[in-house]
Amino acid sequence: MTVRVGVLGATGAVGQRLIQQIDPHPDFELAALTASSASAGKSYREAAKWRVDSPIPADVADTTVVSTDPDEVPDDVDLLFSSLPSSVGEDVEPAFVEAGYVMSSNSSNFRTDEDIPLTIPEVNADHLGLIEVQRDERGWDGALVKNPNCSTITMVPPLAALDEAFGLTDVRVSTLQAVSGAGYSGVTSMEIIDNAIPHIGGEEKKMETESRKLLGEFDGAEVHWNDAEVAASCNRIPTLDGHLENVWVDTAADVTVDEAAEALREYPSIDLPSSPEQLIEVFEDPDRPQPRLDRNQSNGMGIAVGGIQETADGLQFNCLAHNTIRGAAGASVLNGELLLEEGYL
Ligand SMILES: NC(=O)c1ccc[n+]([C@@H]2O[C@H](COP(=O)([O-])OP(=O)(O)OC[C@H]3O[C@@H](n4cnc5c(N)ncnc54)[C@H](OP(=O)(O)O)[C@@H]3O)[C@@H](O)[C@H]2O)c1
Repeated sequence: MTVRVGVLGATGAVGQRLIQQIDPHPDFELAALTASSASAGKSYREAAKWRVDSPIPADVADTTVVSTDPDEVPDDVDLLFSSLPSSVGEDVEPAFVEAGYVMSSNSSNFRTDEDIPLTIPEVNADHLGLIEVQRDERGWDGALVKNPNCSTITMVPPLAALDEAFGLTDVRVSTLQAVSGAGYSGVTSMEIIDNAIPHIGGEEKKMETESRKLLGEFDGAEVHWNDAEVAASCNRIPTLDGHLENVWVDTAADVTVDEAAEALREYPSIDLPSSPEQLIEVFEDPDRPQPRLDRNQSNGMGIAVGGIQETADGLQFNCLAHNTIRGAAGASVLNGELLLEEGYL
């Protein structure tokens, strides 16, 4: 049976990627598109400045965008994907969930709240159990699930593989992040061409907290965050898509490059439509992965790792993922697929 879904914030950078991921999709049928009051009442073609590298699906182009209000979304829509600015999501998302909608959200609000599942299905699908806690505590009929920030999701699958095999005690990461991560109006060409910006507001804190929650243990009632120390430094560079990250980890057990590569390659994927068969691709060539060459592997859902080297207390490596697909829209759709698989829809 096909699930009718809606996209909140459908005209934005992530909203457009969501439409690309959902139309077509084996289990989901697009049935509602929302945006700000400035877009409401317009056809999607008029409201959205389409910038994704495939045409607007014909049925979507003629759909009328509605305002982001539970009364405007048809009752037979079962699942909502949210790509609203977090300041908007903070007020609006609970209203939809209280009205009974199940929501898979990209926005950063509530990600580290104790009763909100923050999930990467291949890493911590069991954290979805927090939905029962959330329903008990908040009296919600629906459910709210979050995917992590785009730079966090790039490094966490490799960290999960290494933590499971060797134990992580300390993680340091420096990022080279694409401009699409800031949204369409985020960074102007005058700011970023011929430049690098060594600050992305709030990003370092997100990487440091969200990664420890994702790598934590769920005991049926709460998530015990991973104890590893995580420190991040975030930089914007003039690539269009694909976040590249340099990571250093200290491990509890000794580890060689070959052992690390094997643990990364063997880290399992999950059997859901958007999940890649091979979750982590390990490159031998020291100058890979690169954003332009490697961001689209596994339809933008793969995680690429390279440059693995031993250090005094562990390892260093580089990792890369497509920030608006694996880091945003694809991550939300994958969480939607998990919600369906686990019977929440
Ligand atoms: N870009 C990434 O790589 C990335 C990765 C992970 C997470 N995220 C998160 O995803 C969310 C969306 O990011 P984005 O890059 O897609 O932003 P964006 O391009 O600025 O798009 C924002 C969307 O929200 C709508 N919106 C704005 N204000 C609204 C309001 N007051 N009420 C209802 N709708 C409103 C906009 O509609 P109008 O067109 O009508 O203004 C648009 O559809 C953010 O929370 C961001 O942090 C982004």
